[in-house]
Amino acid sequence: MGSEEKTKEQLTEELAELRQRVMALEAAEIQRRQTEKALKKLLEKIERAKQEWESTADSLSELVCLVDQHGRIIRANRTVEAWNLGSVKQVKGREFHKLLHPDCPDSSCPLDSFWRQAWSQVKQGQSMQGEIYDGVLKRYIQVRIRPWKGWGKGQTNGSTVVVVEDITERKRAEEALKEYSERLEEMVEERTRQLQEAQERLLRAERLATIGQLGASVSHELRNPLGVIKNSVYYLKMKLGNADSKVKKHLNIIDNEIARADKIISDLLSFARDTKLALEKVHINTLVKNVLSRTPVPDTVSVITRLGEDLPPLMADPGQIEQVFINMITNAVQAMTSSHSADARDKGILEISTRAEDGFIITEFKDNGCGIPKENLGKLFEPLFTTKSKGIGLGLAVSKRIIEAHGGSIEVESEVGKGTTFTIKLPVYVDRTVLGGA
Ligand SMILES: Nc1ncnc2c1ncn2[C@@H]1O[C@H](COP(=O)(O)OP(=O)(O)O)[C@@H](O)[C@H]1O
Ligand SMILES: [Mg+2]
Repeated sequence: MGSEEKTKEQLTEELAELRQRVMALEAAEIQRRQTEKALKKLLEKIERAKQEWESTADSLSELVCLVDQHGRIIRANRTVEAWNLGSVKQVKGREFHKLLHPDCPDSSCPLDSFWRQAWSQVKQGQSMQGEIYDGVLKRYIQVRIRPWKGWGKGQTNGSTVVVVEDITERKRAEEALKEYSERLEEMVEERTRQLQEAQERLLRAERLATIGQLGASVSHELRNPLGVIKNSVYYLKMKLGNADSKVKKHLNIIDNEIARADKIISDLLSFARDTKLALEKVHINTLVKNVLSRTPVPDTVSVITRLGEDLPPLMADPGQIEQVFINMITNAVQAMTSSHSADARDKGILEISTRAEDGFIITEFKDNGCGIPKENLGKLFEPLFTTKSKGIGLGLAVSKRIIEAHGGSIEVESEVGKGTTFTIKLPVYVDRTVLGGA
């Protein structure tokens, strides 16, 4: 046995040492496994937390981006995919403005200028938000930009959080509401006016029906006593030729009032009965002259006639056309005496003219009376429309009916303070036998 041979004790010692090392290794291995397990658990936890937070951001309908200090997207939520702007991976690193407008055609793009302004503000730690109509997306968007809080207090790195919301539906609803509320007022006004008009029409229709029923019979009944009074006044005037002026004056008043009552009765009668025409061949100028000879005109009014020569004849009911002319003259005189005095400076002038034009005979009554306000022009020919305290408003309604029954028309032009012109058109008489024989 030499020195190379280990003693038994030495071997035992080495073995014990080896055993100890093996045990230490085993313990280290257990420790490593435990640490690995704990680490795995921790990683799983972190992954879950990350996913939780990501899907929270992805669940938003808004587009949420984290943008770096150079304006490039670090991260976007899945709304980019819902808005067809690319996948979450693809948009990484893209400039924010280019994300929404890949090739922006607008050099003064409102989104771009908003972004620039917001950018400088955010750099100073301020937030900015605004509503923009995006001409490229054709949508209204609300953009909110705020500094990213970073990794902790005071550790910002110039990144920003951008939230974009599509507010098109809300904006459209707001606009519709605004437009509607603006129109509502108009609609209410319009409706009120319509209702007022309808009410007026109804009232007039009621009164007209009453006039129709009562007018004819009452008028007949009144005509007789009026006739008797008229005869009596005539008799008194003859008998009291030398009576004092006061008596004469009152007799004249009675006479004038009888004439007025008579006029109302004939208006009522013509209104109540159907317009039956007794047609005959007549000349317009004859009718005008007849009426003028029978209708007294006060001194404050001068009548000028311009009657066309060699006018073709009409087929008309002379009595009824004359009644229309009397109405025209009476109205004109009343319009002029209310605004004119006997003073020659502003004397009332009534011009009556006749002429032939395109198969019609035109008769014009032009006065320089008070004129008619625009708002009344449309109502003149309606029965019972009057502006006079003693008027009954049937003259023009009856006149229109008579003229239209003749196949003609009646129109009015007027200016307040200047005067009024009524234009009556009646068809020229056409000899059918001549036409048929030709
Ligand atoms: N020549 C006129 N100038 C001004 N106003 C007129 C004239 N003719 C008619 N009018 C207006 O038309 C209204 C209706 O006329 P009319 O039917 O003859 O009824 P009345 O004479 O009883 O009032 C008058 O009250 C008046 O306001
Ligand atoms: Mg009248």
